[in-house]
Amino acid sequence: MMIRAEHPADIAAIYQVNAIAFGREHEAKLVARLRGLPHTLSLVAVVGDAIVGHIFFSPVTFENVNPESPMVLGLGPVAVQPEHQRQGIGTQLVLQGVEQCRQMGSRAIVVLGDPQFYARFGFIPAEERALRCEYTVPNGAFRVLELEPGALQNCRGLVRYRPEFADCE
Ligand SMILES: CC(C)(COP(=O)(O)OP(=O)(O)OC[C@H]1O[C@@H](n2cnc3c(N)ncnc32)[C@H](O)[C@@H]1OP(=O)(O)O)[C@@H](O)C(=O)NCCC(=O)NCCS
Repeated sequence: MMIRAEHPADIAAIYQVNAIAFGREHEAKLVARLRGLPHTLSLVAVVGDAIVGHIFFSPVTFENVNPESPMVLGLGPVAVQPEHQRQGIGTQLVLQGVEQCRQMGSRAIVVLGDPQFYARFGFIPAEERALRCEYTVPNGAFRVLELEPGALQNCRGLVRYRPEFADCE
């Protein structure tokens, strides 16, 4: 298994991986809309010639930020083909994705998802940094990982994803 940046030829397979893993097309369509926007990152997990996993990151903004907004990326979606799940591929997508976000200059990463899955990577509840998600989400589901100490000390309040997240139904 190797993880690499998506290539143009991967687009159809990425759509399929997301649609199958989530059991619906919402996330697959969202990736299609976000693809190519500034400060996005799209990685695939490849076994042989097959795309078996995918992870995407896109920039978020803060309601209250002072003095200037750091680059912060939102993780999601992440998807692994059902027959390849529970083999560590999702973990590698997150770990390598986070490292590439750091190299892109992202100071922190936010995520909306299963608290247990993301806690293992060091994501803490966003409330602990006085941040909340623009969407109504279960307790503990919105989390943040600071990539350097104090990265979010000047950011407070509502965190907004790209408008494509709301538009994509
Ligand atoms: C979530 C997902 C990407 C994990 O991929 P994966 O390759 O199976 O992950 P890993 O093999 O690295 O598993 C890491 C851990 O997460 C746990 N895990 C896997 N899938 C999980 C899920 N859907 N919910 C909660 N925990 C999950 C595993 O138990 C494993 O823990 P363990 O090491 O203690 O056994 C994959 O299950 C998936 O595509 N799910 C459907 C899409 C989805 O819900 N994505 C968003 C998740 S918030």
